[in-house]
Amino acid sequence: MPMPHAPSHTTERLDHDYDGIRRAARLLQQGGLVAFGTETVYGLGGLATSPHTVERIFQAKGRPSSNPLICHFATADAAFAEIDETAPLYEMARSLAKAFWPGPLTLILPRHAESRICPAATAGLKTLAIRVPKGRAVEELLQHVGQPIAAPSANRSGRVSPSQASHVLEELDGQIDAVLDTGPCAVGVESTVLDLTGTQPILRRPGGITLEALEGLCGPINVADHMSAHSQPNAPGQAASHYAPSLPVRLNATHLFPGEAFLTFGNCIATGAVPALNVNLSLEGNVEEAAHRLFAALRQIDRSAARHNLTAIAVAPLPHDGLGRALQDRLKRAAAPRPA
Ligand code: TXA
Ligand code: MG
Repeated sequence: MPMPHAPSHTTERLDHDYDGIRRAARLLQQGGLVAFGTETVYGLGGLATSPHTVERIFQAKGRPSSNPLICHFATADAAFAEIDETAPLYEMARSLAKAFWPGPLTLILPRHAESRICPAATAGLKTLAIRVPKGRAVEELLQHVGQPIAAPSANRSGRVSPSQASHVLEELDGQIDAVLDTGPCAVGVESTVLDLTGTQPILRRPGGITLEALEGLCGPINVADHMSAHSQPNAPGQAASHYAPSLPVRLNATHLFPGEAFLTFGNCIATGAVPALNVNLSLEGNVEEAAHRLFAALRQIDRSAARHNLTAIAVAPLPHDGLGRALQDRLKRAAAPRPA
């Protein structure tokens, strides 16, 4: 087994053909770390039942062990086998799974007393986040593995999530056993995280399934205030600063200062300085396209920082509803004060 920490081994690049998926499945079954694309972002996968593998996931990401991981399954039945079926919102969870899986929705529920998921994967909590992701390659991969796979986003903790295989390698090359290249992720922002551990559903993280779509099925949903200083330590994505590029980020910009890159949308224009770099998330003002491109755009601007002498990223006003809620959330955290 390679040493944890040390970038001591080669990360295999696997194509998403039959052989690549079989190889990725085998590595996972043997306790290896394999990044793979889902419909949302690339995940850093490992056996959720293996304490050693789970520890390697936390180490590779530099993630605090207090931040629990989502477990990925091939089917809803496999996922619900790990859940306490006496939970008050169990039936609601089943209906949501039926409506939205496979797809970008994660459900947090009380874990079954005999769940096989190792305690380290859930940071010792009595709850478990479950998800059945969508995408030909990831669905085939999870079927081949036949085991629950813990998979946080495949970035170093606090940084921008990866929506392409090359993004994973930028941060984790040599730290993980393989990356299964499934191309750019269709949705581009993470799954919606819905907390069903109590008697009322709570939106913990906006994501690929909109709040409007969820409310259509379960009625009004409370929205957790992540940015509040009082937010629960076990709430998803709790850190105010997250999804952070190297450059500072400024939101709702309608006036530019010299040296700023302009991350814009539709036909938004700004007064002030000429943008040092102009990146449009969707010329047509389409929020799905903007979500699909967001993380790649932040990485692209970061990479160009030296060449264009960039001082900051100014972000144009973006929509607030539908997928716009997830975009706003990610950008708000990208703009939040960074830890010293
Ligand atoms: O789209 C996604 O969800 C991607 C792909 C790879 O599936 N995964 C992902 O994982 O975004 P991660 O670890 O980057 O974000 C998962 C969030 C974290 O903020 C974590 O705190 C929260 O879900 N979470 C996981 N288990 C939880 C639990 N039992 N209770 C509360 N929050 C939980
Ligand atoms: Mg993440």
